Amino acid sequence: MSEHTVTFRTLHGVETTLKAKDGENLRQFLLDNLPAEGAPYTKYTKNLNCGGRGICATCGVWLAENDVIPPDHWHDKAAKAFGYPRLSCQVTINQDLTVFQVDKWLWGNRRSG
Ligand code: FES
Repeated sequence: MSEHTVTFRTLHGVETTLKAKDGENLRQFLLDNLPAEGAPYTKYTKNLNCGGRGICATCGVWLAENDVIPPDHWHDKAAKAFGYPRLSCQVTINQDLTVFQVDKWLWGNRRSG
């Protein structure tokens, strides 16, 4: 399949559904296709981040498909293992995704349970 559906839900429940090409980077896709308030960053981190290198963890999002998308990057592996938001810069879009904006000041909180 060459195209996937990405649904992004903001903290306020506003949903945007978009089409992504197979293999696109999730962080870049969100930055390119959503207004600033829907992007993975806060107003502070949109200009202060590692640029997608998997270091800063400011690009975190919750994924409905968290359990079926294996992390490749060490930091994304740690995020998944410890229940923190996934690093959107380390997620490749290769299936339909439902992405939830994370409530955060800099980094997102850990998910309980
Ligand atoms: S942009 Fe820094 S970890 Fe994703």
